Amino acid sequence: MNIVILLGAPGSGKGTVAGALAAENQNLKHVSSGDLLRGAVAKGTDAGKEAKEYMEAGKLVPDALIAKMIADVVAETSGNTTMLLDGFPRNVAQAEILAETATNAGATIKSAVLIDVPDSLIQDRIAGRRTCPKCKAGYHVKNLPPKVEGKCDHCGEALVIRKDDNPETVKDRLAVYHAQTEPLIAYYKGKGLLKTVDGVGSIPSIAAAFLAAM
Ligand code: AP5
Repeated sequence: MNIVILLGAPGSGKGTVAGALAAENQNLKHVSSGDLLRGAVAKGTDAGKEAKEYMEAGKLVPDALIAKMIADVVAETSGNTTMLLDGFPRNVAQAEILAETATNAGATIKSAVLIDVPDSLIQDRIAGRRTCPKCKAGYHVKNLPPKVEGKCDHCGEALVIRKDDNPETVKDRLAVYHAQTEPLIAYYKGKGLLKTVDGVGSIPSIAAAFLAAM
């Protein structure tokens, strides 16, 4: 298995790009740490109960909690898949854990692709985001509207606004990104794995640039 890491600020388009590419290519699998955690919260598992408070405050959940979820997904993923790993790692400690998880599973970290978007665009992107709680499809009220307002194109479920998508929490998530996740840019550059794509432009053009870079 190959692993491609998606790096980028909250709202930079990681889930949108990975979702679009995985929908078009059977060998690509989109794995989102945020979706795994939100699933655990919705099910009320012990991990979900522990994660909830951190997520609502825009803070990172403990490394071991999310690392275990990612290791489980890596273990159950078949060898000829390329995993688009969105939201993990989020700090250097998690990057070291991922390197060990990949080695143990016989997987290769192929690249870490940064979707580069200025902070000035982030609040607008997140304010307009709508998400399908059932199939996880993502929308934006202006930039990527559903065909029928408020309904998922794929499964018809009513779209929701994420609890952590309020302006105050977004500010905190951006601060956490700059302090804890941004150092991964230098980390993966040092390993010769970093690629960068401009995250400003149309979604199809960014997805194509990402595919070419990865
Ligand atoms: P997570 O779910 O990972 O959130 P995030 O990193 O903050 O990323 P987002 O999902 O907000 O953004 P995205 O880049 O996927 O943007 P999207 O494609 O939706 O994490 C949530 C929380 O879980 C964290 O705060 C933390 O508590 C916890 N957590 C998760 N992973 C963790 C970890 N590893 N360790 C510890 N804690 C962890 O796009 C945003 C919007 O913009 C959409 O509406 C979209 O339609 C629109 N859009 C996308 N691209 C474009 C474009 N090119 N032009 C115009 N609009 C666009």
